[in-house]
Amino acid sequence: MRRARRGLVLVCSKRCWLSRKTTLEIACRSVTVLASAKPVIETRWNRVLGYTERLTARESTSCLLAAKIPTMTLSTESLSGVKEDVFTTIDKDLFIKKITVIALQVQPKTCHKVLSLVKPYTIRKTGIRNIVADPGDETGKGRLVLLNEETIKTRDDVESCLPSDIVEAIKREEIRVVEHEISLSYDNMSQESIMRKLLPVSIGEIPSAFETVGHIAHFNLRDELLPYKHIIGQVILDKNAHIKTVVTKLGNIETKFRTFPMEVIAGKQEFDVRVKEHNVTFEFNFADVYWNSRLQEEHRIIVSRFRKNEVIADAMCGIGPFAVPAAIKGCNVYANDLNPKCYKYLLRNVEKNKVTSKVSCFNTDARDFIRLACKGDFPSKIEGQKEKTVFPQHIVMNLPAAALSFLDVFPGCFDRNLWQNKPLPMVHCHCFSSGKTQEERRDNVISRAENYLGCSLKPNDKNEVEVRYVRDVAPNKFMMCLHFRVPEQVAFAFEDPEGEGEAEGEKTTPDPKRPKVEFIENSP
Ligand SMILES: C[S@@+](CC[C@H](N)C(=O)[O-])C[C@H]1O[C@@H](n2cnc3c(N)ncnc32)[C@H](O)[C@@H]1O
Repeated sequence: MRRARRGLVLVCSKRCWLSRKTTLEIACRSVTVLASAKPVIETRWNRVLGYTERLTARESTSCLLAAKIPTMTLSTESLSGVKEDVFTTIDKDLFIKKITVIALQVQPKTCHKVLSLVKPYTIRKTGIRNIVADPGDETGKGRLVLLNEETIKTRDDVESCLPSDIVEAIKREEIRVVEHEISLSYDNMSQESIMRKLLPVSIGEIPSAFETVGHIAHFNLRDELLPYKHIIGQVILDKNAHIKTVVTKLGNIETKFRTFPMEVIAGKQEFDVRVKEHNVTFEFNFADVYWNSRLQEEHRIIVSRFRKNEVIADAMCGIGPFAVPAAIKGCNVYANDLNPKCYKYLLRNVEKNKVTSKVSCFNTDARDFIRLACKGDFPSKIEGQKEKTVFPQHIVMNLPAAALSFLDVFPGCFDRNLWQNKPLPMVHCHCFSSGKTQEERRDNVISRAENYLGCSLKPNDKNEVEVRYVRDVAPNKFMMCLHFRVPEQVAFAFEDPEGEGEAEGEKTTPDPKRPKVEFIENSP
């Protein structure tokens, strides 16, 4: 016991050989952990002990147990990567404990009546029933209603913690208040309380927020949590039946296709997922394509702006979260993504959701795709339509880190002879913005868009220019959506039938000084 408090860290038996450096490294880490009264490493090797305390495995284990310090087993395989993989498995036995709870002693005939009365005040522990057999009742029929151990700690607490009418009823019915001992284990503890017990106090906030993508729990663990990543992953697996794989993101999204490197910290190495969004099923490989479950509401909002039979051109469509629901709604969709793997899953999702007759899939650069859309050069899939040309009513550009810079494709991209008096398409362009107020963020988006379009985008009477907040991404970084109808002077920018040139002050060509590509790095 005395030794444990002083810094005993390693429980060992002869098994393998480690260098002195590694040994000391383990020891140092463990001492830090112990200092904050948290888990202690257990390894099965004697030499480690040689550099810390000269104790036998049995002696050290009993010290640890006496000090009520949970230990962890360090597997031999993980020792090679000991630098950051120190904490690998959880010794669940060390969570077993007995606690005394306060209970109401009831007879079978009053049991359910009492339970319905006090239900909100009964014990709340996973796997522990709030009504159990009374061990003190010789007939075997008596029952105990277990009360919430967090709020009702002593028999006297019953009177002070329960509402007066319930206290009256307990007295009137002559129900006895007794103590009852129950056994708790790892299985009865919540995810949060297990992590609180396992992680050092110095860690601060317990990692609880993760994104769920099918069977995958996706974390973005802070640096200081990385030494504990495997046990965090294991707790998530143990406490969430539907989760089979836990990953943490390594660094920020930087790839062209907005995918990111990730590491499996627990569970199986399986990235093929099936997710359901608004009753539409999507299949994809989470490591190969972009997917963000937090965009679920945004997908719904954009699709709600489309009407049946409208033509939609989705320029950066991913695996189809706008395209497929739009097609199900009855729109005629042209969907494109430059990532060949997205294209593969897009085809699959279109087929699985039985909308092949409604969606044409493309695998090209968004600028080329938008040019096709504006020229009406898409192959027609619209039933009964003789015309070869199709005119999109909506163009979706969902690549927030760069989509604004793709707006430079629009000037002069439309043919007046083809479009004649048809309404030009609405563009829905996602982007990031910053600024203290909503106005600042909006102005920031509008001025960048104007720069690429070479034309003013003043909000008009028809309410066809709008900058909508989508979500917070990071401190002072917001995802926004710019909605606007392509202005005539942009669409037909380089047309000059009368040979009169531009009117003074009317800028119809893109500003040659504008930045060519806008790519905000490190963005989701
Ligand atoms: C932020 S993701 C959005 C995907 C999809 N709209 C969604 O909501 O899940 C952006 C997509 O743009 C694609 N992309 C990146 N550069 C592109 C380009 N130049 N042309 C077309 N697609 C591109 C990426 O592969 C990625 O799937």
